[in-house]
Amino acid sequence: MLDGKNILLGITGGIAAYKSIFLTRELAKLGADVKVIITPDAEQFVTPVTLATLSGNPVLSSFVPEGAGGLWNNHVELGKWADLMVIAPLTANTLSKLASGQSNNLLVATYLSATCPVMVAPAMDLDMYAHPTTHENLDKLRHHGVEVLEAAEGSLASGLSGKGRMQEPEEIIEAIRHHLAPTEQLKDKRVLITAGPTHEPLDPVRFIGNRSSGKMGFAIAKQALRLGAEVTLVAGPVNAELDHPRLNRMDVKTAEEMMAAVAHCYGEQDILVFAAAVADYRPKDVSNQKIKKTPGDAPVIELVQNPDILKFVGQHKKPDQFLVGFALETDQEVQNARKKLDNKNLDMIVLNSLNDAGAGFEFDTNKVTFITSKDVVEIPLKSKDEVAVDIFRQILKLHAES
Ligand code: C5P
Repeated sequence: MLDGKNILLGITGGIAAYKSIFLTRELAKLGADVKVIITPDAEQFVTPVTLATLSGNPVLSSFVPEGAGGLWNNHVELGKWADLMVIAPLTANTLSKLASGQSNNLLVATYLSATCPVMVAPAMDLDMYAHPTTHENLDKLRHHGVEVLEAAEGSLASGLSGKGRMQEPEEIIEAIRHHLAPTEQLKDKRVLITAGPTHEPLDPVRFIGNRSSGKMGFAIAKQALRLGAEVTLVAGPVNAELDHPRLNRMDVKTAEEMMAAVAHCYGEQDILVFAAAVADYRPKDVSNQKIKKTPGDAPVIELVQNPDILKFVGQHKKPDQFLVGFALETDQEVQNARKKLDNKNLDMIVLNSLNDAGAGFEFDTNKVTFITSKDVVEIPLKSKDEVAVDIFRQILKLHAES
């Protein structure tokens, strides 16, 4: 299952490290090429000989190993070599180093320079795990796109019982397989995504806009590409890059331009996800010249309604098309989102909460609830990349049921 995959396994100094011996053996058995990096403290719990034997590779523990004739372990190369870096167990100490960008051992320096995706499985005593600092540090990692495999409840090395156990090796392997498995679940499917804000011009230099960064929409596009889809991404003005042979990106500025781009291609799509924060109104008149300041006089800007792109597509939707809208509500959230589901003829609404820290515009994380005519599924705070994974998991599940 993991044939040809390069996995960099980081092991830090906690009692759960003994389970990483099994993890190393299983990953190697599944066909992965495993290189293990251990911190100096981890050597008190597991020996390099065991890990080198099971992984089939020398264990890496220092920048310049003794007896290597001055040859150094290139942490930059390690991060480039890996398809995935997994740190299991992750102690509170190494977590704080990762969160603050330290680079004083080979493992944390490799993390800091790694360009591959990173997954961590924290393990510590319950009070350490419950400490606000630990939460802040884990949230920081999530913000940086790290997948955190939350610690589990159970008995701990201290004799106490609570949340802090590293996830079992089988669960970590499942998460790794899910992350790396070449999934083609959306092969030959066409997915249309709208992303970012719209800018509605007042004059050649000014516009009415909003703070949408486009991060959620781009994360959805990335995940659709990962699942093998042909993706059309209609993006408002954003600072986000995405390049892929199966991606057709259409950059627009205004709601009317977005409407035109969507109208052009919505008919041929299988799944449509509207994550753009489209301005509901635009200035009625756009001045050809920069509007001048007239002392003592404040101009009044008359607005007109923009087309509701999602509603238009809902009205023209074919039975086999799956239509997803986003909703940002501030009160009676679920009730209002349900109304929108009906009014716009949607199959699913992704409800964004403005009331949760770390969720919404400009953040790298989001906290959403999936609403369909039958279900309300609340998802905890996650990175936008992980939310995108959940969105397609939900879509594929609903598609399979229909
Ligand atoms: O009705 P409301 O604006 O809250 O709906 C939000 C959803 O509708 C989002 O999915 C957004 O992308 C879409 N929308 C749209 N065109 C508009 C306004 C919103 O496609 N003019």
